[in-house]
Amino acid sequence: MLSVIHVNLPHQPYDIVIAAGGLGRLGELMTGDRHQAQDLKGKVLIVSNPKIFDCYGQSVTTALEDRGFTVTSCLLSAGERYKTLKSVQKIYDCALESRLERSSTIVALGGGVIGDTAGFAAATWLRGINVVQVPTSLLAMVDASIGGKTGVNHPQGKNLIGAFYQPRLVVIDPQVLQTLPQREFRAAMAEVIKYGVIWDAALFEQLEQCDRLDQLRYLAPGLLSEILTRSCQAKVDVVTKDEKEAGLRAILNYGHTIGHAIESLGNYRQFNHGEGVALGMVAVGQIAAELGFWDEQSAQQQLALIKKAGLPTQLPTTFEISAIVAALQTDKKVQSGQVRFILPTQIGVAIISDQVPPEAIERSLRQMQQPDFG
Ligand code: GLY
Repeated sequence: MLSVIHVNLPHQPYDIVIAAGGLGRLGELMTGDRHQAQDLKGKVLIVSNPKIFDCYGQSVTTALEDRGFTVTSCLLSAGERYKTLKSVQKIYDCALESRLERSSTIVALGGGVIGDTAGFAAATWLRGINVVQVPTSLLAMVDASIGGKTGVNHPQGKNLIGAFYQPRLVVIDPQVLQTLPQREFRAAMAEVIKYGVIWDAALFEQLEQCDRLDQLRYLAPGLLSEILTRSCQAKVDVVTKDEKEAGLRAILNYGHTIGHAIESLGNYRQFNHGEGVALGMVAVGQIAAELGFWDEQSAQQQLALIKKAGLPTQLPTTFEISAIVAALQTDKKVQSGQVRFILPTQIGVAIISDQVPPEAIERSLRQMQQPDFG
């Protein structure tokens, strides 16, 4: 099965191709006349990390060389702590050594760190060369590879250095998810559920009907591709309406403000990003219901779905609620001292609000610490 999402940005339209076996067809997809990246040719620099490149580097290189590309590679150490200007410098060095030209292409083969770092290097090398995103994690497939935000971390904060820079093509091969660690797969499901809650009620229903969400990649590859396509479409819908984050894009942060606070207070080890987002969505779902924005039944449906995906719904009692509420104030999305929340109003629709009283947040989090919650 192959599905294509056209991203209709006026200055840089591109396609997202979701195809099992897509990695082995990368050269064809980058040159085929079906896709908007049809004119790519010449030199390609693959940016990846050693583990991913070991698994897929050879087949991607062969696929590109078979279509006439001249291919070199640049490997960065894996992990968020390498999302730095130093890694960008390494890509520049490789670009120089490979004599990349304005018409050359960087292929970002990896998860979100590779996509963001390589995307930023592509945005800035020779004032912008082509970038093709080839995400290999579920999180990068449904989130980081789409939307055009590229960048790296500064020692003082995440993603402080960056640029909006759209790829020429995104190629998603669901087969690579077979080897993704289970915890990572499950965590990324939080973002998929998020799209259902804030944008696509039919996706939410589809997820509800699926018995083994955590086993989707082994048991139902066709359904997984469909869910991937719907999730990517949701992100595309939002970012094409608000490319530079002037307003609507904020709804993509549903569950993220409380999620980030929990993630950081657990030192990024107790809960990873997706697990934090899952807990954040549970908390905000309850707040929206208590404040009368959302009906109780929808909040319960969301809770059940998050649980079914194998994601956490209970907040450990070791977490100080006052510390979570205090941490919300340091979120980079805080505007003029007001914490902005994304509140669902029905499944598939969400609004932005800065009118959530701290007491409602505290009540919701306290409820999530009850032994019988969830
Ligand atoms: N690259 C991720 C985003 O633009 O949201």
